Amino acid sequence: MEKITSLAKRRGFVFQSSEIYGGQNGAWDYGPMGIELKNRIAQTWWKEMTQLHDDIVGLDAAILMHPRTWEASGHVENFTDPLVDCKKCKARFRADQIPEENLAAKKCPECGGELTDTRKFNLMFKTHIGPAEDSASIIYLRPETAQGIYVNYKNIIQSNRMKIPFGIAQIGKAFRNEIVTKNFIFRTCEFEQMEMQFFVKPGTDEEWFGEWRKRRWAYYEKLGVKMDHLRWHQHGPGELAHYAKDAYDIEYLFPMGWRELEGVHNRSDYDLTRHTQFSGKDLQYIDQESSAERYIPFIIETSAGLTRNVLMVLCDAYDEEKVADKGNDDDWRTVLRFHPSLAPVTVAVLPLMKKDGLAELAQDIRRELKEDFATDYDQGGAIGRRYRRQDEAGTPFCVTIDYESKDNGTVTLRFRDSMEQIRVNRAELAARIRREIKEYKRKL
Ligand code: GAP
Repeated sequence: MEKITSLAKRRGFVFQSSEIYGGQNGAWDYGPMGIELKNRIAQTWWKEMTQLHDDIVGLDAAILMHPRTWEASGHVENFTDPLVDCKKCKARFRADQIPEENLAAKKCPECGGELTDTRKFNLMFKTHIGPAEDSASIIYLRPETAQGIYVNYKNIIQSNRMKIPFGIAQIGKAFRNEIVTKNFIFRTCEFEQMEMQFFVKPGTDEEWFGEWRKRRWAYYEKLGVKMDHLRWHQHGPGELAHYAKDAYDIEYLFPMGWRELEGVHNRSDYDLTRHTQFSGKDLQYIDQESSAERYIPFIIETSAGLTRNVLMVLCDAYDEEKVADKGNDDDWRTVLRFHPSLAPVTVAVLPLMKKDGLAELAQDIRRELKEDFATDYDQGGAIGRRYRRQDEAGTPFCVTIDYESKDNGTVTLRFRDSMEQIRVNRAELAARIRREIKEYKRKL
């Protein structure tokens, strides 16, 4: 993880928030490469969940919601972690994450000092809206995007004439006052979620729950990540969230071990029943195709962390490969083997020399490619070093312009993974790259 964190900073993927002030715990900034990677992951998810499904539509709800939302959702009462502090070294722990013997003996796992009693700690960030800082002005930063979907479910049925079963997808920020925020961007206080809520008829929920588990697994297969680094984990009775009837996590083998990447939840009719009670509004669905039968739909939720997916994709892509045997640093290259459709830069254009019109020709070719691809241009230093820089940034294709390019209009196309180089006619370059992206299969 240290290597990935350091590469992420060096190459402009992720920076510590407010670094010049010593950093802000639990918050990270996405640099020029990071925002591109995050956007591409978000776009891939969005396409998969909306464009490829006739029965799923999108939404972008506000982060600030009526405070009653969080009473109805159960977050005010139940969204808590058990917390203990060390009276001696002042370290703070989640009681469920320290060894049981330490908890039983009230002994700090770090310094052996005495631990406080366990107390409940609500993870929602609370602030005030308007000028008065009293209890009437309390407002929360949303801890999940899901609730914005539930409170709009009737609006969407009415405005878009949706019929059950149907889904609503949303990508957006969520905030949790996490006690432990280690492991880079894995668990942070400010993060992004990609959630989809699928509304179904009661009694069909278990079938849909199985269907969505299949679809979400297939999504990661399509993304081209290492499938032997993914597994399912079903929540036991003690693990289930307050809203869940059944829940499975997709876990990824991160450098620190198997950890949750995404949750697929059967939330039953819990959310809409609670919002009915708290809002006084009738949230029943009227099934016109079944003699106007009325019911509160069950909800199948797929909830993935976008920022956690960025970390997964970075870890999954990271590789160190021995490429020579000269006994020096150049023997190894660091390479990010991103799927080409996720890579922040798709094509780097490199003139072999700056002189003799090669730089101008390269700029010209870059201008052409820009219309279709995210491009980079680099004319500084030895060509081998420039390839390495692009490998480290995960650029799948490099196009090199040399003297032959001037003579016969061909260029060198170099592939990141195999380091193979082929000659391609300039006129066929864009089509060839498009085909390579479409047919890409990771071999390493
Ligand atoms: N709406 C259901 C829900 O929020 P969750 O299991 O609490 O369920 C879903 O969160 C996903 O959101 C997780 O699988 C994870 O990818 C991401 N996530 C949750 N807390 C996070 C945090 N503090 N930092 C980064 N990602 C987080």
